[in-house]
Amino acid sequence: MEIAASRMTDQAFPIMNADILAEEHARLHARPVDRKTVGSPFVKNPRMTCRNVDVFYGEKQAINKVSIDVGQNQVLAMIGPSGCGKSTFLRCLNRMNDTVSSCRVEGKVCLDGIDIYGPAIDVVPLRARVGMVFQKPNPFPKSIYDNVAYGPRIHGLTRDKNELDEIVQTSLVKAGLWEEVKDRLREPGTGLSGGQQQRLCIARAIAVSPEVILMDEPCSALDPIATARVEELIAELRAQYAIVIVTHAMQQASRVSQRTAYFHLGDLIEVGPTEKIFTNPGHKLTEDYITGRFG
Ligand SMILES: Nc1ncnc2c1ncn2[C@@H]1O[C@H](COP(=O)(O)OP(=O)(O)OP(=O)(O)O)[C@@H](O)[C@H]1O
Ligand SMILES: [Mg+2]
Repeated sequence: MEIAASRMTDQAFPIMNADILAEEHARLHARPVDRKTVGSPFVKNPRMTCRNVDVFYGEKQAINKVSIDVGQNQVLAMIGPSGCGKSTFLRCLNRMNDTVSSCRVEGKVCLDGIDIYGPAIDVVPLRARVGMVFQKPNPFPKSIYDNVAYGPRIHGLTRDKNELDEIVQTSLVKAGLWEEVKDRLREPGTGLSGGQQQRLCIARAIAVSPEVILMDEPCSALDPIATARVEELIAELRAQYAIVIVTHAMQQASRVSQRTAYFHLGDLIEVGPTEKIFTNPGHKLTEDYITGRFG
C-alpha cells in the first residue's frame, strides 16, 4: 500500500510540478523582449559613461547593449545571478577584457568624456586612473612597502624616497591598514591575513591616485569582521572616488552603495537608487532576484 501511495504521489504531482517549474524556469531565463533598461541609468555629471556596450567571447555575446553612467562620489553596486556578465562588464571599464584574447568589446565607454577604447589611449595609465581590486586578494610576492610603492614607481609618480614613503603611508592610512602594519613594512604582503591583504590591495590601487575604483566581489574571501572593515573603507573612499562594486551579497549592496544595477543574462535590467531597487523594484526580474526567487 505504501509503495502504491508513493507511486501515486510520484506520478500525480511531480508531473504537474515539473510543468510549473519548466514554465517558471523558461520565464526566468527568457531574455526580456524589451531590453530597454528600467529606472535611471544616467546621472548628472557622470565620471564614466557607457553607451550601447556589447561584449562577445568569440561568437557568444555576454553583454547586450548596456548603457549606464558611473557617478562621482558614489558607489554603484552591480548585482545579478552568476554568469549574468557582472565581471565582464566591470572589466570593460578599464579595458581589462583586452587581456582575454577571445573577447571583443563594442560600443562606447568614456572617462571624463574621452573614449577609453580610442586609438590614442594607453591602457597602462588608464588602469592607473581606473584601478581594480579583485575577488581574491592578490598581493605581489614583495614586501608590504613594495606592494604599495609598485604603482608609483612604475608610473614615475615620485621624485625621491621621501615622496615615495609619504605615498606609501597615506595610501595605507586611507586603506585603514597603517596602524596594523607600520612596524612591519619590510615583511612580505603575503604574510598578512586575508582581510589585511585585501586592504593592502586597496592601498596599492589607491597609491597611483586613481579616479575610479572597480571592485569585483572584494569581500567574498573575507570573514564578517574583515568584510565590515572593507565596507567601512568603501564608505570612506566614496568621498574621493567613483566606485563600482560587484557583489553577490545583497545586504552588502544595500549597505555600501547609493545606486544599484541589476544584470540578467547579459542585459542591464534595472538601475536605480539602492533603496528603491531593494524596496520597490520596477522590473519583475529584479523583484524575483532580490526576493530570493532566482539566483
Ligand atoms: N574568458 C572567458 N571566455 C569565454 N567566456 C567567458 C569568459 N569569461 C566569462 N565568460 C562568459 O561570459 C558570461 C558572463 O560571465 P561573467 O564572469 O562576466 O559573469 P558574472 O556575472 O561575473 O558571474 P559570477 O557571479 O559567477 O562571477 C558567462 O556566460 C561566462 O561563461
Ligand atoms: Mg564575476
